[in-house]
Amino acid sequence: MEGNANVKPELASEAVNVIENVAGTYPGYRRAHARGYMYEGVFTPNGNASPLTVAAHLQDEAVPAIIRFSNSSPIPIHPDAISPVKGMAVKFQLPNGESSDLIAVTIPLFFAKTPEAFVDIADFFKSAKDGFPNLKDLAKILLKYPESKASLQMLKEMRSPASFSTCQYYSIHAFYFVNAEGRRQAIKYEWVPDAGLSMLAKEEVAKRHPEYLNEEMEERLKQGPVGFKLNIQIGGVNDPTDDSTIAWSEDKQVITVGHLMISNKIESFADHFLFDPTNIPEGIECSEDPILHFRHHAYAISYDRRTHNQ
Ligand code: HEM
Repeated sequence: MEGNANVKPELASEAVNVIENVAGTYPGYRRAHARGYMYEGVFTPNGNASPLTVAAHLQDEAVPAIIRFSNSSPIPIHPDAISPVKGMAVKFQLPNGESSDLIAVTIPLFFAKTPEAFVDIADFFKSAKDGFPNLKDLAKILLKYPESKASLQMLKEMRSPASFSTCQYYSIHAFYFVNAEGRRQAIKYEWVPDAGLSMLAKEEVAKRHPEYLNEEMEERLKQGPVGFKLNIQIGGVNDPTDDSTIAWSEDKQVITVGHLMISNKIESFADHFLFDPTNIPEGIECSEDPILHFRHHAYAISYDRRTHNQ
């Protein structure tokens, strides 16, 4: 999937440079969500998405999947308990040999509406302590980009999870499902954990090992597979598809379209996988969201640097 014409690919290297200036450069690691762990699983669709999309992995055949859970920090040694946002990237292996990626995080909104705003706001994170900018810089961001408030407020209130398997993960961006008649329907994805939601109490945070989430998953998987339901929210006419800073209305129709079972861990240090949110099959299209299209370019640059040991 190619980028959108309104997005400037050259700004993508600037975005990756800003992240490096703020957080440092760690050769071989992703420039965001640097520390992560890979797992194998199987995704089984339930057929509920078939009237809405012809996407191969959302019909009636189970497909293998590779899953990467991550800490959002660009710093690979950043303790799990300190940066509360976690990532879940899923690569579905399609029956025709191709793949499709679905990348989600534990916060439903993004803080930037455009790539330009991202580059500008990311620079303010230089002052960040424990992943959050100081109050003076926060005030400057909110004055210039009032649309960031909802996401930054959520970020401030978030607590670290007890497990990667006890979080709900959101695609943030909208996508279009396209069915056999060519009808387009805006949707957003959510992964809902079978284990239910569970966060750490404040007093527990200090007691946790810096990589407690990895250890916790290892222990949990010894007891059996870890599951997530894949839900889609059905967008209505007033729900924006081009702006990740605005939540969709709350009374959304939600449909469960399948279930993921994660069975075991696979080796992941300096892995050469690329998860790209615009890597989607026939039957799914990117929305107009400029951040979604921009990510395609930024991830390619990060991938290129980390696979050349930069
Ligand atoms: C302008 C906006 C953004 C920029 C510049 C950006 C940048 C990056 C970069 C450079 C990487 C590393 C890519 C690689 O080396 O493979 C990354 C990974 C990631 N990003 Fe973003 N990101 C943005 C927005 C988002 C949003 C809105 C989400 C929400 C779903 C998100 C979730 C993730 C996740 C989960 C990963 C880890 C993927 C993996 O496990 O391979 N990012 N991001």
